[in-house]
This record gives sequence, structure tokens and C-alpha cells, in this order.
Amino acid sequence: MSLAFVPAGPARARTAILISGRGSNMAALLAAAADPAYPAQVVLVLANKASAAGLATAAAAGIPTAVVESRGFKGDRAGFEAAVQAELARHGVELIALAGFMRVLTEGFVAHWFGRMVNIHPSLLPSFPGLETHERALAAGVRLHGCTVHLVSPGVDEGPILAQAAVPVLAGDDADSLAARVLAQEHRLYPAALAWLAAGRVRLVAGRALVDAADGAGALANPLP
Ligand code: GRF
Repeated sequence: MSLAFVPAGPARARTAILISGRGSNMAALLAAAADPAYPAQVVLVLANKASAAGLATAAAAGIPTAVVESRGFKGDRAGFEAAVQAELARHGVELIALAGFMRVLTEGFVAHWFGRMVNIHPSLLPSFPGLETHERALAAGVRLHGCTVHLVSPGVDEGPILAQAAVPVLAGDDADSLAARVLAQEHRLYPAALAWLAAGRVRLVAGRALVDAADGAGALANPLP
């Protein structure tokens, strides 16, 4: 048994958010971290494209931003990650939150940050890793769908699960309506899960992540029995 992340002291954990796009999860994390009592402090928002819309949101909130253009490192993932790592080191980053970051990270980078890097994925993992999760959930006919916050391991959308939120799939849903229902839960779940990690409340036990927080009571069922 070990803690995934051990806070260095009373100071808030210095956190980087990595994005590639609109950054709505990033915005939810920034809003939570605006409270001085929140255990993580966002010290950097880093994007792999200058066109990521979330960069402007972060800058408007007064958060330092950086761009490491992955296009400039075609076929050189190690070179790209070395440049990212340099930015992380420059800002004294202790924790990484991936929020719609569309680059697969190398095993070396992931191993270096294991226990200190989280991701949010729009499905109830291990169902539907990868892209187009809402389309695939609809095609599979699942009645419950949702989102997962997990520690990042080398496989794509793999790693010990910290927390999940489930939503019903409704009869009239299309991918957009289902995505919107899941996204609303992502914005609630991610700030909570990052806070648990940053506060040293996540233990690793036999490959699983156990969170020191209240378990959801009762059951989620759809349709209701
Ligand atoms: C979210 O659905 C997240 O779960 C996935 O990518 C999307 C990013 O959206 N990893 P946003 O940039 O946070 O709005």
C-alpha cells in the first residue's frame, strides 16, 4: 500500500493542466482551484497546439500558459515530451491533469509521472477507451454511460480508476445530447478527483486506486426497476 501522491507540505500541490482543445474541463478545474482552500494550485496550462481555445480561457483567468507545438516534432515523441517536461520543470509542477490532451504519451514519460498524472475519459472505463465514446455507447445499446477519472498508465485510457460518474442513456439521445449529459458530470467529477489526489487521499493497493472519500450510496439503474 502506498499513497499515489504525497503532498510535500501544507502548500497546495503545483498542478499543470494539459489541453488540446476547448478546455471546458480545464475551466472546471480552474474554477475549483480559484478557492484558496482547494488542495491543488494550477500553475500552468500547456497546450500542444497554439489554436487550443482553452489557452485564452486560462490566460483570462491569469494562469501562465505555454504551447509546445507537437506538429513541430513529427515522429519525435521523445523530443516533444522533453520540451513539455522542460516547461513542467520550469513551473515546478508536481501534478498533471490531462484534460482533452490528444497526444499519446510514451511509456517513459508516463512511468516518470505515475501516481501524479490523471486523465478524464468520457466513458465508464474499461468500456469504450479511445475516441467517439458516445457514438459507440449508443451503438452498443448500453443504458448507463458516464465518465472516468483515472491515474495514467502506459496503455491508452488505462490506469487505476479514481472515480466514475454514470448517467442514463435516454430513448431520444443522439451523440450530442449524450455527450452534453456526460460532460456536465465530467465538470463535477474532475475537480473532486483532483482534489483527492492533491490532498494525499489516494492509496494504491494491488494495482487499484482507493480514494478516502464517501462512497456513493444506493444504486444507479436505468430503466428504474
Ligand atoms: C472531454 O470529453 C474529456 O473527457 C475528453 O476530451 C474532452 C475534452 O473536452 N478527454 P474539454 O476540452 O475539456 O471541453
